Amino acid sequence: MLFLHKLLLHIKLYIYKPNTIKELEVVRINFIGKKGVISNLLKFLNKLSILKRSIFGIIVNESKQITQLLFTNRKSIIESLTLEERAKEEVDSSLPGRTITIGSLHPITDIISKSERFFLKLGFIAMSGIEIEDAFHNFEVLNIPKYHPSRTDHATFWLTKKLLLRTQASNMQSRLLTTQKIPIKVISSGRVYRNDYNKTHTPTFHQMEGFLVDKTISYSNLKTIVRDFIWFLFNNKINLRFRPSYFPFTILSTEVDLLSSTGTWIEVLGCGMIHPKILNNANISSNYAGLAFGIGIERLAMLYYNMNDIRLLYDNDLRFLKQC
Ligand code: DAH
Repeated sequence: MLFLHKLLLHIKLYIYKPNTIKELEVVRINFIGKKGVISNLLKFLNKLSILKRSIFGIIVNESKQITQLLFTNRKSIIESLTLEERAKEEVDSSLPGRTITIGSLHPITDIISKSERFFLKLGFIAMSGIEIEDAFHNFEVLNIPKYHPSRTDHATFWLTKKLLLRTQASNMQSRLLTTQKIPIKVISSGRVYRNDYNKTHTPTFHQMEGFLVDKTISYSNLKTIVRDFIWFLFNNKINLRFRPSYFPFTILSTEVDLLSSTGTWIEVLGCGMIHPKILNNANISSNYAGLAFGIGIERLAMLYYNMNDIRLLYDNDLRFLKQC
C-alpha cells in the first residue's frame, strides 16, 4: 500500500503541471500508455510468486484506474479554463529560482571561534565560565580588595550585597587556579557586564580570559603568544604595540593596542605575569610562574570588520550583519 501511495503522489505532482490537453496527454502516455511506468510494472508480475503476484496485480491495476481518474479530472479542469486563467496557471520558467538563505555566524561568535582556533592549536583548553559571581572571586581573589581604586573602573551591576554580574572574565582565573591541576593552560570566553553605554561601551560585552601556569613561563612567552595571536587573526596585516599598564592581579602588566584604519591606536587586551600573591593564595608553589591575558572581543570585532560603533553589534540588523 505504501508503494501505491508513493506512486500516486508522484503521478499527482506531474498531473498538475500541464496547462494544455496536449501536454497532459504526454504525461498520461508516460504513466499509463502502453509503454508507460504502470504498464512496465505489470511486466514484473510473472517474476513474482503466485501470492505476491495477485496482491501486486491488484495494487497496480488499482493505481492505473486511480491514475486514469486523475487524468480525466485534470483534463476537464484544463478544458474549463479560459485562456487568461490558463496563462496564469502557466509556470514562468524565466523567473529566477527561489534562493535559500543560509545564515552566518554573528561577528562576535566569529571572532571568538577564530580566536579559540588559535589557542586550541597552542594546546590551551577552552572552558566555560559563570556570569553570576560573588565579589570574592570577581575582585578579592584578584587582589582587588574593597575600596581598591580599580573597583571604580568596574561599574558593577550588583544583584545582592555579595552577588554581582561578573565585570571581567578573570573571575575564571580566580576559580580555575584552585580547581585545576598544574600545569594549567586555559581559555574561557563569555559575557561580562558593566554599567556603561556609549559608542565604545555597552552594558554587556565579551571577553576571552586566558592563562598559563607552568615552571618556565616568562614574559617573553606572553609577548610571543599575544603577538602571534594578533597576527593570526589579522593575517599579519596590522600594527600592534605593547604599552606598560597596571592590573592588580599581574605584575609586569601590559596593554596591547592595534592601529586602526583611521590611524588611532585602539586598546584590545590586557595581559601580564600573574601576581605571585595570587599564585600563592591558590597554593601554587613559587617554582611556578603564570601568564594571563584578557581579550576584548568587541574591540577586535570592530577592528576586524572596520566598524566605529560597537552598538551595531547588538542591533541585530540583518542589513549590517550580512556585510560581516
Ligand atoms: N580583566 C581585565 C579587564 O577586564 C583584563 C585583563 C587584564 C585580564 C590583564 C587578564 C590580565 O588576565 O592579565 O580589564
